[in-house]
Amino acid sequence: MSFIQTLVEDHVAILTIDRPKALNALNSEVLSDLETAVDGLDLDTVRAVIITGAGEKSFVAGADIGEMSALSKEEGEAFGKRGNDVFRKIEQLPVPVIAAVNGFALGGGNELAMSCDIRICSENAVFGQPETGLGITPGFGGTQRLARLVSPGYAKQLLYTAKNIKAPEALRIGLVNAVYAPEELMPQAIKMAQTIAANAPIAVRACKKAVNEGLEENMDDAIRLEERLFGACFETEDQVEGMRAFLAKEKHAPYQNK
Ligand code: CAA
Repeated sequence: MSFIQTLVEDHVAILTIDRPKALNALNSEVLSDLETAVDGLDLDTVRAVIITGAGEKSFVAGADIGEMSALSKEEGEAFGKRGNDVFRKIEQLPVPVIAAVNGFALGGGNELAMSCDIRICSENAVFGQPETGLGITPGFGGTQRLARLVSPGYAKQLLYTAKNIKAPEALRIGLVNAVYAPEELMPQAIKMAQTIAANAPIAVRACKKAVNEGLEENMDDAIRLEERLFGACFETEDQVEGMRAFLAKEKHAPYQNK
């Protein structure tokens, strides 16, 4: 029995974190199952991934506090590395990942959402980094990704106060792109994933690489990176077909990832 359910349909994979009795909190087993599920994605088929939580109440309520409570300094650091390695793998997946946040996204839950390319949430979603209230810092990338995603000042407020925010505030600060009624969240996530999957996969992957890697570079190197990725799209079957169809005023044939 895995703590992750995987469903693949029409180029879209849905990974559901399924440990509802602990509000989908991430213990070592859940992290391992998540890594196995990510490693198991067939990237020849899958063009977009959605990550969500089982049940109506929680996306992920954080790293498992019971498991962490007795860790030594060395074990704590190793647990942080474990989570970071899995989340970095998600962040660096060649295809886009959407977090469909269906409730609590606290601590490691918010950190998981921030490792995804895009976050959308339900009206009942709650976000926060409660760690300083527990005597620790965030350990799965929260100090770094939050400060990069929202303003450093707002990130520090969330980190120092350990106060949670609700969906409208998460939308206002740009932590999520959209807020939906709970029953609309997955249909909207699937619709977005299908829209992405219908575009030329080589170009979509190149956009992800350009944004993620370009943000780590100075502007001159980042622009060079875009030039190389832009150039690499030319002469692909999908580029030739996409431009042919536009010029012929026709709908392009389904893209082939070639
Ligand atoms: N770890 C382990 N168990 C958790 C958990 C967590 N992070 N969050 C919830 N649970 C468990 C609860 O212990 C409870 O289990 P029992 O039924 O066996 O008692 C069950 O899930 C249901 O939770 P509650 O009864 O507390 O539900 P609630 O609706 O009253 O409250 C909540 C919901 C506000 C999310 C509350 O559960 C809560 O505050 N959870 C902890 C949130 C948190 O602090 N997360 C950060 C963890 S630290 C971290 O993530 C570090 C890192 O960066 C790596």
